[in-house]
Order: sequence, then structure tokens, then C-alpha cells
Amino acid sequence: MINRYTVIGQPIAHSLSPVVHQLFGDLTQRKVKYTRTEATPETFESIVLDWQRSGAKGCNITAPFKELAVTVCQRMAPNAKRAGSVNTIEMHRDGALVGHNTDGAGLVADIVVNKRRVLQDSRILLLGAGGAARGVIAPLLDAGPTMLHVANRTSAKADTLASLFSDMGPVSASGYEALGDMAAFDVMINATSLSLNGEMPPLPNGLVGSQTLAYDMTYAKQDTVFMSWSRSRGADTSSGLGMLVEQAAESFFIWEGVRPKTRMVYPRLRELLS
Ligand code: ATR
Repeated sequence: MINRYTVIGQPIAHSLSPVVHQLFGDLTQRKVKYTRTEATPETFESIVLDWQRSGAKGCNITAPFKELAVTVCQRMAPNAKRAGSVNTIEMHRDGALVGHNTDGAGLVADIVVNKRRVLQDSRILLLGAGGAARGVIAPLLDAGPTMLHVANRTSAKADTLASLFSDMGPVSASGYEALGDMAAFDVMINATSLSLNGEMPPLPNGLVGSQTLAYDMTYAKQDTVFMSWSRSRGADTSSGLGMLVEQAAESFFIWEGVRPKTRMVYPRLRELLS
């Protein structure tokens, strides 16, 4: 029997998730078929329910539906519930749709294991306060930074996120204008959707230095504007390719009960992106 999965988003044509999961299936000798599905806010719920009725085992959710996905789930894993953001739906054999969020675990695994950065006692800046940012705050705080600052164009949304997670660790918030007074960060993560349009948030120069890892959650063939800007100021940079792979491995584990060895898939993905 083949277990079927899909990734639902808009746009979705360029998602590499099908390639990643197909490679995981090969590596773990599981028969899986993984497709892409385009949705709109109006069709999202019926697409998820139809997918479940067809006998599929689960789906991933990507922008801009991670917050909407919460409303279709009957049960939520603690990480997704707290974040109010779902990137993985498990279609449970008891008929329930169970929401999970593996983005944060994927991001932290990529930074700590693959990029060998220590997050304990570090200063972290998170740019953006949408679905992508929500999903990663708890795992970042779990890693023990001395400061996690959330900056967003709409500062009220950053404030809301900071209050939501304030019991978990040292999280603060502001708009971009307040960043001018801050010292350079150890890790700066771009969780806005701006890279998709070749843009970046309005950041002051002093935010990055040679000790900074500038991490863009977006992955693309070329460096994003955010990555080029950061590199020209001395920072080490990373695209979100590793986060894509590591969060996918967490989803695969939830669905298939086996954890794929992620390092095996990177050469093929780099080849596809080049
Ligand atoms: P995602 O699921 O990818 O997080 P989202 O929930 O729509 O998508 O969030 C998009 C993020 O990019 C938000 O933080 C948004 O800022 P606002 O909350 O102020 O809208 C940010 N963003 C989008 N366009 C932007 C722009 N032109 N300038 C600055 N930030 C922008």
C-alpha cells in the first residue's frame, strides 16, 4: 500500500517538499507518494477534508494557510496549539485531524546541528510575526537564549506574539524603527515573506557583524537580498533549505514513525536548485 501526502499552499508550484519526502521514502524503504496542492482561503478547508476522505495519511501546510489550518484540526499537539500555527496535519486512523508544527524543531536542528551554532546564551532577532514566525518562537526559547527579540512592520503583532510566549523565556518585541538602538545579534532570522518578492525589511547597519548568522527561512536558487545584505556586512548566511529538510524529517517521523537520515538528501536538493 502507498501512503499518500501532499503540501497545500499558494503559490505551491516551486515547493521542493515532494522531492524531499520522496527521497525520505526511498531512504527508509517506505512506499509514499507526495504531491503539491494549490488552495485559496475559500477552498482550503474542503481541500483538506477531501484529501482525508480519499484515504490519505496526512498533509503539510505552507504559506499562507498555517494559521487557518488550526481551524480544521480536531486535536492539536502542544507546540502547534501554543503557536496557533500548523504545518503538519496527521490524518489519524480514529478519523481526527491532528495539527502539529515541526517548523521550529526543523529550524533549531538546522542551526544547532548542521550550522553548529550555539543558541544557549545567544541574542536572537526574529523578523516577522506571521505564521512562519509563530511556529518557531517556542523551540527557539527552549534553546536558552538570553534574548529573543521579535520585530515586525506591524509592531502590535510582534507585541501579541511576545506576550503569548512571555512565560517561556526572555522574549521582547518592537517595530523595525526601534532596532536602530540595538547591538549586533548572534542570530538574525528572516521569517517575513519579503524574500519571495526580492525585498527585505528596513534594517539598520549595526544589527549584524562577523559573529552573526543571518538565516533566511526562504530557500531559492540564488541568495536572497537579505542574505546578500547581511554577507556584505560580514555575517555568515544561510537559506532555509536546511529548515525545509529538517522540518520535513519531523513530519515524516510523525506520519511514518521512522526518522530519515537528512544529510543524504542535501546533495540531490543542491543539484536541483543549481
Ligand atoms: P507567513 O505564513 O509566511 O508568515 P504571513 O502570516 O502572511 O505569512 O506573514 C508575513 C510576514 O511578512 C508578516 O510578518 C508581515 O508583516 P505584517 O505583519 O506587518 O504584515 C511581513 N511582511 C509582508 N510584507 C511586508 C512588507 N512589505 N514589509 C515588511 N514586512 C512585510
